[in-house]
Amino acid sequence: MASLDDLIAQARNVARRAHAPYSHFRVGAAVRDADGRMFVGCNVESASYGLTMCAERNAIFGAIASGAAPPLTAMALTCLDADSAGGCMPCGACRQIIWEHLASDAPIAVDGGRVFTSAELLPHAFALTP
Ligand code: THU
Repeated sequence: MASLDDLIAQARNVARRAHAPYSHFRVGAAVRDADGRMFVGCNVESASYGLTMCAERNAIFGAIASGAAPPLTAMALTCLDADSAGGCMPCGACRQIIWEHLASDAPIAVDGGRVFTSAELLPHAFALTP
């Protein structure tokens, strides 16, 4: 079973593969599924800037496509190029996707040792069924 520390280490590794020639801002994410398997994603930018995909969504979508057992039970996120004090937080679009696919009690670790739940990141999230 991958630990939160394993996820943090894998998020840092995959961030080095980020395709970020425009922002030079490399992001890595790792998620764990209900069977303890781990899946990773990095940000991939496009020359048509708006087509860029974030690391978190790449990790979650890749997990789903790989047959991850739902719900996802943990996530780690790291930004290699953020200033050393702050790290970074997931964008709003990613918070919605995180909320939809991670368990409500799943730890979401970000730089600086901070850990959140999906509802802390996105209170009053949109859901099709209230
Ligand atoms: N980025 C992510 O990968 N995740 C986020 O939550 C926010 C932003 C990426 C997108 C873009 O490649 C770069 O960071 C700068 O915005």
